[in-house]
Amino acid sequence: MADTFTAIPICDKVYWVGAIDWAVRDFHGYWTAAGTTYNAYLIVDEKITLIDTVREGFCDEMMARISSVVPVEDIDYVVCNHAELDHSGALPRLLRAARPEKLFTSKAGIKALARHFELDMEATGVGNGERLSLGQFNLTFVAAAMLHWPESMFTYLEEQGVLFSQDAFGMHLASSERFANEIADGPLRYEATKYFANILAPYRKLVLRAIGALQESLPDLAIIAPDHGPVWRQTPERIIELYSRLAEGKPVTDKAIVVYDTMWKSTERMAHAIGQGLFDGGIHYKMMPLKVWHRSDIATELHNASGLLLGTPTLNNNLFPTVADLLTYLRGLKPVDKVTGVFGSHGWSGEGVGQAMDALSAMGLDVVGSVKSQYVPGDEELGRCRELGQKVAQRVLQRP
Ligand code: FEO
Repeated sequence: MADTFTAIPICDKVYWVGAIDWAVRDFHGYWTAAGTTYNAYLIVDEKITLIDTVREGFCDEMMARISSVVPVEDIDYVVCNHAELDHSGALPRLLRAARPEKLFTSKAGIKALARHFELDMEATGVGNGERLSLGQFNLTFVAAAMLHWPESMFTYLEEQGVLFSQDAFGMHLASSERFANEIADGPLRYEATKYFANILAPYRKLVLRAIGALQESLPDLAIIAPDHGPVWRQTPERIIELYSRLAEGKPVTDKAIVVYDTMWKSTERMAHAIGQGLFDGGIHYKMMPLKVWHRSDIATELHNASGLLLGTPTLNNNLFPTVADLLTYLRGLKPVDKVTGVFGSHGWSGEGVGQAMDALSAMGLDVVGSVKSQYVPGDEELGRCRELGQKVAQRVLQRP
């Protein structure tokens, strides 16, 4: 396998030894249309050090890449920045094969690892600012709690200015290109935005705080090496700037998204009338029927959008199940600063629209109105849908 999978140098004596998952599409409910990578890094100093591991099924690939540089059993130290299984799944096997002298993780990481595995060795807990000499190089550990787990931490390689940032500054993107500057800007920004919107958005204030602290304490930061996607080698400021903007949580476009499901196309007719109303009112829109759009793509579009029009049929006195799924998902992501409206068709009771309005209001979003239609919408209901679209557009354009 060592001939099939080799390490890729990212700077002097530091190698990428991770794995590329070209096939994953459902990543705990996140639609990874472009696959992903699980990044691990090897520092070859007097103490040979592995930073993070990979998902369990990719252990052989990681071991092969390590073996292309040094025998796995030569590893002295292992650092676990994040205990989630896509980065720790291969840890037990790696520890059995390498028998390292030490395993370092955050103090909260000790418990997290113990709740996942019965490891053959005890982990050593490290705190914010603690340093570790590897010989020629030194590591500093940086607390990153809730980015995005309580035990998350970063590790900084001082002499080369490399920040191993685990999930932060990452994206789900499988590619043979290992560096961000080798990848076109469009896909890079889309996947980074999607990752932020679906993973880090609930912790956006902590992201802003962390970026401020990094800029203050790491003036020589040269490389950001996350645990997913490409390494930011020449221009780490690109991803820092994008993250800073995303973490503000402000819409970047006047656009609205029209998200709906439909049983017999009545709610869909209403969706199209609302789209026309948005257009008449002066803003663009994107139709995102739930039959074809995944919740994680909707969350991505919504992060940058100004408006959300949500359409739900009523099924057995309730929200339509796909709409309920989306609302549950969005509630966790804590969207901010969106103008919203709700619409939907029903047969006899029509509770779905009210339930959706309540859910959006409970998220603190501005709900400007709603339209309900019994059975098939006629000219009167479709006219009110257009008016709702116009009203949302007006509210969006009036905002400071
Ligand atoms: Fe990529 Fe939170 O794990």
